[in-house]
Amino acid sequence: AHRIIIDTDPGVDDAIAIMLALASDRLKVEALVTVAGNVTVEQTARNACMILELAQRTDIPVHAGCARPIGHTRVSASHVHGVTGMDGPDLPAPTMPVQPRHGVDYLIDAIRDAPRHSLHLVMLGPMTNLAMALIKAPDIAARLRGVVAMGGARCEGGNITPSAEFNFYADPEAADIVLRSGIALTLLPLDVTHQCLTTPARLARLRALPGRCASAAVAMLEAAGRFDLNKYGWAGAPLHDPCTIAWLLQPDLFAGRQVNVSISLHDPLTRGMSVVDWWDTTDRPANALFMHDANADGFYDLLTRHLARLP
Ligand code: BDR
Ligand code: CA
Repeated sequence: AHRIIIDTDPGVDDAIAIMLALASDRLKVEALVTVAGNVTVEQTARNACMILELAQRTDIPVHAGCARPIGHTRVSASHVHGVTGMDGPDLPAPTMPVQPRHGVDYLIDAIRDAPRHSLHLVMLGPMTNLAMALIKAPDIAARLRGVVAMGGARCEGGNITPSAEFNFYADPEAADIVLRSGIALTLLPLDVTHQCLTTPARLARLRALPGRCASAAVAMLEAAGRFDLNKYGWAGAPLHDPCTIAWLLQPDLFAGRQVNVSISLHDPLTRGMSVVDWWDTTDRPANALFMHDANADGFYDLLTRHLARLP
């Protein structure tokens, strides 16, 4: 099985991404590392524990990482995910502990201890933890097999400002550090995730699944879907973060290009925006495989098949 660490800020779509990873026998989830993003780092760590308990996978450790971004104060997305970050289902308070070791220190050790190029880091929130790890231990960049991240937007515009996607906006300096690190990076931006809408028909297939994980996922999607319906008039919410796991499991669901991606840092109007050199107008080297197209039906088939396997 393919070894992964998931760095995350659950978050409704984070929770479903984690479930998708846990359901696959082709992925071995080594740990969940949490970060401040959708909600505070204490709450994202608590939510990570709740998901693992729901899936009966308390063998997977949870490490809490950074409590705020590098270059500005915390931005949250509780207007999307609810005050808890996972509004919707009525889940019991977690009993498993959060590990005492800080998420950044765990990441450094785990990447150093794993055989070279054996480990993928999946990033579902602001990139603060990896950026801090790279500052503390630059040698880890050459050891990872790759980073698969949800973040950025090219043609879609932003979802937290007119120009910026939430994960990149919430910590632009961190995204910049990761994009300059030389790590093989795959990006699933809004251009792709806005194609993966949880329509009523897709939700109905998930609702028909028996397990408590699937039921919790549906309850979260229904709460998030209400937000998006109000906001965009869409027939459902985009399912951002699970696209990363889906790409690891079935890369042919997505199409993209190797391009240069740079982050706008200094202009208040565009701070956190991903500037993508799609048409090769500069000599800046390619630093990311940036996706632009998804097979949404294939993605929901994969998700439904996998959630069916969980308790
Ligand atoms: C990203 O922002 C968060 O609210 C979601 O969990 C996802 O990671 C989408 O822009
Ligand atoms: Ca997220």
